[in-house]
Amino acid sequence: MLKGTFPVEKFKVIPTPFYYYDISLLRETLETVKTESDKYGYHVHYAVKANANPRILSIIAEYGLGADCVSGGEIRASLAAGFPANKIVFAGVGKADWEIELGLDNDIFCFNVESAAELEILNEWAEKKNKIASVAFRINPEVDARTHAKITTGMKENKFGINLSMLGQVLDLLKTLKHVKLIGIHSHIGSQITDISAFRSLAIRMNEIQEELDQRGITVEHVNFGGGLGVDYYHPNHLSIPPFDDYFAVFHKLLQVRPGQQVHFEPGRSVVAQCGSLISKVLYVKEGEAKKFAILDAGFTELIRPAMYDAYHRIENISNDDPVEFYDVVGPICESSDVFGKEVELNKAHRGDLIALRSAGAYGEVMASQYNCRQLPVAYYSDEL
Ligand code: LLP
Repeated sequence: MLKGTFPVEKFKVIPTPFYYYDISLLRETLETVKTESDKYGYHVHYAVKANANPRILSIIAEYGLGADCVSGGEIRASLAAGFPANKIVFAGVGKADWEIELGLDNDIFCFNVESAAELEILNEWAEKKNKIASVAFRINPEVDARTHAKITTGMKENKFGINLSMLGQVLDLLKTLKHVKLIGIHSHIGSQITDISAFRSLAIRMNEIQEELDQRGITVEHVNFGGGLGVDYYHPNHLSIPPFDDYFAVFHKLLQVRPGQQVHFEPGRSVVAQCGSLISKVLYVKEGEAKKFAILDAGFTELIRPAMYDAYHRIENISNDDPVEFYDVVGPICESSDVFGKEVELNKAHRGDLIALRSAGAYGEVMASQYNCRQLPVAYYSDEL
């Protein structure tokens, strides 16, 4: 069974569960992102929600990326990690007043505005501070991302963005507001998108939206496509860097860029998923009547994706090369949804074996909780062990 390479001897003295980040893979991924986006002069704002670990953030900032934030906490974390304020975009349907103030006080690059109501409040705050806030309208492009329902965002029934049919009204409102300036349009159709044709539809829809704006005599300087590029959870050892080349090429081929217009992206998962693994230990092997359970010391408190989205994560026993057997791999949390995988092929599991849950760098550590009074997981880095 092909496995990732891990410093297993070093792991043996670290209390489990913990997150382990392969920093050279992270750097290689970032170099690829840079090379492929630089080909077209595209701007990349890393979606901090995917992983806000301070060390990971500061490495990403080193590569000159901007940050895509969805809360005041993320803005603070990004600034602390070294992302320049003028490369921070701030999205989210429910920006609280203090978060709007924080963005204004730091002169962030852009507020991705999701409703008329928010635009009015942002205008009020900017007026109080005697500033002009730069805004991009997040438009709901009504493009089906063909991904998991809980991570689809670009459809009419989702809470995100301004519906296309309402755009005219929001533009009329904009004319009456003196402290907000429209600099861009933004959209994000969902996450873990592996069917590249969804991005084709998005680029084409953006052309249509721009034509609608043209008719109103509006040309925006910035177009932002959000994030969404998926990763291969089944083959983290072969396909550890997502196809950034194909991804950016779709937009280059299809988007009708206006003179001087700048194009932006907000990838999260594709940047960090493959460099992270959750390392856990087998506590017990329980022989059930019909199946065997490998009971780990990690649960959905450390990695919630399988319980929350039925997500698949590759699971490897990194302690031995014994013949494989089938196990339901479960955690210790008192909920029946605390299952990482059913009928998982693992090298024979024994108490104390180390188990790696792969592709956990995105929406892993950052979504951990203290349910059952558990401790938040600690992280270790390949270049510091
Ligand atoms: N931009 C916006 C406006 C977003 O809402 C998101 C993700 C991104 C960018 C980054 O998307 P990415 O490149 O990572 O697909 N917790 C879920 C994923 C939630 C994604 C939310 N929005 C999961 O574990 O699958």
